[in-house]
Parts: sequence; structure tokens; C-alpha cells
Amino acid sequence: MKLSLISAISENGIIGSGLDIPWSVKGEQQIFKAMTFNHWLIVGRKTFESMGALPNRKYAVITRSQLTSNNKDILYFTSTDEALSKLATLTDHAFVSGGGEIYKSLINKADTLHISTIHKEIDGDVYFPSIPKGYQKVFEQDFSSSIDYTYRIWKKIK
Ligand SMILES: NC(=O)c1ccc[n+]([C@@H]2O[C@H](COP(=O)([O-])OP(=O)(O)OC[C@H]3O[C@@H](n4cnc5c(N)ncnc54)[C@H](OP(=O)(O)O)[C@@H]3O)[C@@H](O)[C@H]2O)c1
Repeated sequence: MKLSLISAISENGIIGSGLDIPWSVKGEQQIFKAMTFNHWLIVGRKTFESMGALPNRKYAVITRSQLTSNNKDILYFTSTDEALSKLATLTDHAFVSGGGEIYKSLINKADTLHISTIHKEIDGDVYFPSIPKGYQKVFEQDFSSSIDYTYRIWKKIK
């Protein structure tokens, strides 16, 4: 299974404040919507609580609690390894979609990183981990918006 990671990060490395994303950038969410359409997203319980289940996406939610769902498109797992094993039987491509704890646990396993840098220093308390060595930037595009941002794709060097 291919594993991609998708995130938006401020200039000072912030991805969240409490449960929220502390900015609103016109258009930037379209990248997330387009990339993840009809795919499985791996999310931490806090991110799932915060964003809820968007239509046309399926969720593997990581939690230490024993939670269950009647919805076949929402599965709960007590570890990221368990989620990856099950998803490998269901799909050939899944997206690590936050938040901070889940990015930190899985960034090393991601084949591709889709990262929008929001060109502003923003207050918050949830940080993105450093991009590990061994990734190469393969795409970059600047966008002008309510806050300018740059979308980059990084690929793991095989
Ligand atoms: N900017 C972006 O692109 C972006 C994207 C997504 C989210 N966010 C932001 O990120 C923030 C949330 O991030 P966060 O780090 O606070 O929380 P999180 O990663 O969304 O979720 C943390 C929760 O995941 C579960 N968990 C984590 N590691 C686990 C493990 N090894 N085994 C079992 N369960 C585990 C635990 O759930 P339980 O407590 O239930 O056990 C933990 O409390 C929010 O502000 C959100 O808006 C930003």
C-alpha cells in the first residue's frame, strides 16, 4: 500500500491550536479535498473529533480507547500498525491526515508528503514534526490568496 501524508503548516511549524486549525486560507483546502477524494485517511482521535467525517472519505481513527462504529467507512484502531495492516487489505493508497501525534508516528513510513506552507507565523500549540532526511522535493507551486501559500510534494528517495 502506498502511504501519503498531507498537511498544511505555518511558517513557524504550527498545524493546530487546541482542536482547531488556527487560520483560514481561501482555496487551500481544495488541495486536501482533491487529493483525498474517495480515499482512506488515517487520523488521530482528536483530529477526527475536530473535523468530523467529511463525505467521500473513509477514516481509520487511532485511539487508545476501545471504540467501534456501525459505519463501514469509519474504523477505529488502537495502534497505527494495526491500522496500516488492515488498510493494506482494503486499499492500495492511504493518507496520513493528522494531527500532530499521528504525523509524528507515521511520517517516516510515508512515501510521499503533500505539504502546504502557509506564509505566516501563527500562534498555536500543535507542531508538525521535522521532515526526516531521505525525502526529495519533486513539485512546488506558489499560490496567492488571503494568506499566500506554497504547495510542495516530497518523495522518499528509494
Ligand atoms: N494543519 C493541518 O494540516 C492539520 C491536519 C490535521 C489536524 N490538525 C490539527 O492537529 C491538532 C490535533 O493534533 P494532536 O496531536 O493534538 O492530536 P491527534 O494526533 O489528532 O490525535 C491524538 C490522539 O490520537 C490517539 N493516539 C495517538 N497516538 C496513539 C497511539 N500510538 N496509539 C493509540 N492511540 C494514539 C490518542 O487518542 P485517545 O486520546 O482517544 O486515546 C490521542 O489522544 C488539531 O489542532 C487539528 O486541528 C491540523
